[in-house]
Amino acid sequence: MSNNLLKGKKGIIFGALNEQSIAWKVAELCVAEGAQIVLTNAPVAAKIGQTEALSQKLNAPLIYADVTKMEDLENLVNGATEALGGNLDFVLHSVGMSLNIRKKNPYADSNYDYMHQTFDISAMSFHRLMQTLMKKDAMNEWGSIVGLSYIAAQRTFPDYGEMADAKSLLESFARSFGYHYGKKKHVRVNTISQSPTKTTAGSGVGGFDAFYNYADKMSPLGNANAEACAQYCVSMFSDYTRMVTMQNLFHDGGFSFTGISSELMDSFRDPAAE
Ligand SMILES: NC(=O)c1ccc[n+]([C@@H]2O[C@H](COP(=O)([O-])OP(=O)(O)OC[C@H]3O[C@@H](n4cnc5c(N)ncnc54)[C@H](O)[C@@H]3O)[C@@H](O)[C@H]2O)c1
Repeated sequence: MSNNLLKGKKGIIFGALNEQSIAWKVAELCVAEGAQIVLTNAPVAAKIGQTEALSQKLNAPLIYADVTKMEDLENLVNGATEALGGNLDFVLHSVGMSLNIRKKNPYADSNYDYMHQTFDISAMSFHRLMQTLMKKDAMNEWGSIVGLSYIAAQRTFPDYGEMADAKSLLESFARSFGYHYGKKKHVRVNTISQSPTKTTAGSGVGGFDAFYNYADKMSPLGNANAEACAQYCVSMFSDYTRMVTMQNLFHDGGFSFTGISSELMDSFRDPAAE
């Protein structure tokens, strides 16, 4: 079912690696809602992912870009505005990778070259992208830019490692750049803090199944899945959220504001004491 929420709008979607990717669902829904999109992913995704297949399915041009390279982003923005025949109304940054997590380095024994790369890929890329868009004046007035975050930016989850720090930085960039882009061109910038979701990036975090199940039991609505996240992203790209900017928006079924759920209370009860 389509409500044509994005009719006539143009955008770039980063990070659709395979069918599980949050960005994959967002790309599909944006097109179903009437948008024209360009897909992008890291060049290595050509070997390990299925972005090409999505590009064909949605009839959306695919331009590879490594988010750590300024020239790749410049080439992407030029190519996308040319392919779409005009400036952009929305951009989804759905990119994350931790080198220390991948190498299984404990948080308190992090390698700083890896940490630097993690911040570069997962957070500084958001700033680099927005700076490129602004310098090229590639966004339309009242455009919308969204990055995907996780609650480890505010609360500690032992196995989320340096990605927690990367997400804090990502959310801070949304506030800081959001101010400047709002002033300059009424472009809004937000992060969506999503529930644990079974994807390649998500499942790379140690103990993922345990904290997926924990979050599901803690959240009054249960975990939000990738399809629901796509719906939230589309609403953030639509004209119905024009005055929302510089926010970190929790999309987590209520997890972030729940102290404890009755299910979890039950698991701690001591029958002998009752
Ligand atoms: N899965 C979860 O539990 C969860 C929860 C909250 C937030 N998020 C965030 O959602 C976003 C998308 O992740 P996902 O869960 O869909 O996993 P995913 O693995 O499908 O997506 C991550 C994407 O980042 C891309 N990427 C990595 N390095 C890159 C580079 N140098 N240049 C360009 N692209 C690069 C990958 O190719 C991939 O497409 C990430 O920011 C992630 O941190 C995920």
